[in-house]
Amino acid sequence: MGAATVEGMEYDYFRYHPMPEIHSWMARMARAHPDVVTIVDYGQTYEKRTISLLKIGVNTGAKKKAIWMDCGIHAREWIAPAFCQYFVRQILRSYKTDPKMAEMMKNMDFYVTPVLNIDGYIHTWKSDTTRLWRKNMSPGPPDCECAGTDLNRNFDANWATVGISFDCCSDTYCGTRPLSEPEAQAVTYFVGSRKDEFLCFLTIHSYGKLLLIPYGNPNFTAPNYDELMEVGLAAADEIKKVHGMEYTVGTSPAVLYANSGSSRDWARLQGIPYAYTFELRDDDKFGFELPEDQIQPTCEEAYSGALHIITYAHDKTFKGV
Ligand code: ARG
Ligand code: ZN
Repeated sequence: MGAATVEGMEYDYFRYHPMPEIHSWMARMARAHPDVVTIVDYGQTYEKRTISLLKIGVNTGAKKKAIWMDCGIHAREWIAPAFCQYFVRQILRSYKTDPKMAEMMKNMDFYVTPVLNIDGYIHTWKSDTTRLWRKNMSPGPPDCECAGTDLNRNFDANWATVGISFDCCSDTYCGTRPLSEPEAQAVTYFVGSRKDEFLCFLTIHSYGKLLLIPYGNPNFTAPNYDELMEVGLAAADEIKKVHGMEYTVGTSPAVLYANSGSSRDWARLQGIPYAYTFELRDDDKFGFELPEDQIQPTCEEAYSGALHIITYAHDKTFKGV
């Protein structure tokens, strides 16, 4: 179940994979679909591992719009990288038979980072005692005995104003300054250098079954708040149709907790209109340790939700073209 042939190799999308397997999966996807997939290296982690994404789209020669998706900014949220891989498989399958996906792959490039916090992800695979690590692996300030900065508190978006900690041992330690961390820098420079292209910025987390919209600081409201809510609620409807799961839509302070320095808020501040955080399954039963038998339904429903947002953004931009 879940196996697909990539150059004769089976890949099981419905199991969790350690980093070396995800890395070779990326290489195989690029080799198997050389016309539409390229690997782009765009940064380095603290431990000097290369951060890469898959750029997926039909090369038309024309200037295109773009969709951003990153997974695994928080190390322990293993369902997120599993979803990015599933998402890539689905769009590569469907563009050959589904005219809508074919159209979207001509008008837009999909930039998908399966694992952003590579050092942290590798750490969570080492032992049961490290399985629930959240942050990256950079050492704290000189006087601190704890490692790791919360990458989703380190972006230059109302940095350190709310929902963070200055205690380097905290899970929400925001770093010494905005963009102190190389992983946050990589996303900032890559997306920032082509921000006019991006219609959507989708960052995938777990857990809670939520679709979060900007901003994490309750003192600020996105200029397109009403539209973000409307599109988010319609995406939640699509999610519910697949396996009956109810996702809650709202700003982070409204439905989870206030925070600052998130990549989603940064993207919206850059002018990227459709910025969403997905908090995938489940609620509290298994939390970050979502059993493998839930990977498939979780990915199926989240795919429907993501596709709704992406299709909306595409159609609004390319109407009548
Ligand atoms: N992925 C979330 C974050 O970025 C954690 C949410 C888990 N907690 C919860 N109560 N659902 O902080
Ligand atoms: Zn998270």
